[in-house]
Amino acid sequence: MNTTDRTRLDETLVAIAAADADELEAQRVAVLGKAGWISAALKTLGGMSPEERQIEGPRIQGMRAAVADAIDARKAVLDAAALEKQLTSEVLDLTLPAPETPRGSVHPVSQVMDELAEIFADMGFSVATGPEIEDDWHNFTALNMAETHPARAMHDTFYFPDKDGEGRRMLLRTHTSPVQIRSMIEKGAPLRIIAPGRVYRSDSDATHTPMFHQIEGLVIDEGIHLGHLKWTLETFLKAFFERDDIVLRLRPSYFPFTEPSVEVDVGWQDVAGRRVLGGDGDAPGHGWMELLGSGMVNRRLFEFTGLDPEKWSGFAFGVGVDRLAMLKYGMDDLRAFFDGDGRWLAHYGFSAFDQPTLSAGVGARA
Ligand code: PHE
Repeated sequence: MNTTDRTRLDETLVAIAAADADELEAQRVAVLGKAGWISAALKTLGGMSPEERQIEGPRIQGMRAAVADAIDARKAVLDAAALEKQLTSEVLDLTLPAPETPRGSVHPVSQVMDELAEIFADMGFSVATGPEIEDDWHNFTALNMAETHPARAMHDTFYFPDKDGEGRRMLLRTHTSPVQIRSMIEKGAPLRIIAPGRVYRSDSDATHTPMFHQIEGLVIDEGIHLGHLKWTLETFLKAFFERDDIVLRLRPSYFPFTEPSVEVDVGWQDVAGRRVLGGDGDAPGHGWMELLGSGMVNRRLFEFTGLDPEKWSGFAFGVGVDRLAMLKYGMDDLRAFFDGDGRWLAHYGFSAFDQPTLSAGVGARA
């Protein structure tokens, strides 16, 4: 081996053994890179005689291998040191307070739907569902609201521009009552269902949002009369508001799909300037609050859905879930329900572990 190469190799190995990551890369380029001196030495092999090449070839390759091995060894040392440094600097201080994890909660509307599903499950009702994109036959016609019926104007409806395959106008359902029709057709009688879900009307102020929630109730059996309706509503409202002194007032009303139709008011009393549900609304200082619509299923619905009106009778009711939540939990602006403001939800939200009943989750399915 010539002395120049020997010195160069020794110098290179010494430099590599002391190099940091940047210097190591610089050495690699200077020695083994395209213009590096060992690469240049390898190129000279081409111009040599076979005898010369037999000696020089292994010699230069030997230098190349020595440098490559030294670089690998140094790199392993540097990597281990870097890891060690990271491990000692990134300590976990167990005395620091844990970072706060955002905690989800059950939305008041879901909570109330769960409570309702549980209350009605105790009375033998099952949960029924229907589509939010409805056709005008299920939403209006089969509910005895004829094409020209003024009742259609009672709801400000969101219509879709296209009709379905059967020429029916498509719309966002304006109430949960079409689930009455779907259940009567699909399940027949007897029937005992509630149908919670989203409904839509073109309306917006402090007590109206374009989307809100209703729960429909429907019972069909032999011999069902108004007394069953009143008892069911009374039992449900006492359980929901957790008060035995809930008093109902049934007022004559009009819905095309019930006959007779009754508007149900609930009595309230003044407690330190606040209206609290409970007590006879006619007592001094008390009053009545309108709560829901209901009535006996109109016999025309039996005809529309193919059930025998001579055999079956029934009652139905529809109530706003958001309104029930506002009354029970003292929330005063309906719009806040759907703003998605985390502070409001945190204030009124219910813990995911704070389920009131075993069947929690059922009501939120719709
Ligand atoms: N669907 C009616 C509404 O949205 C409520 C209702 C339901 C009335 C069932 C009577 C019977 O106003």
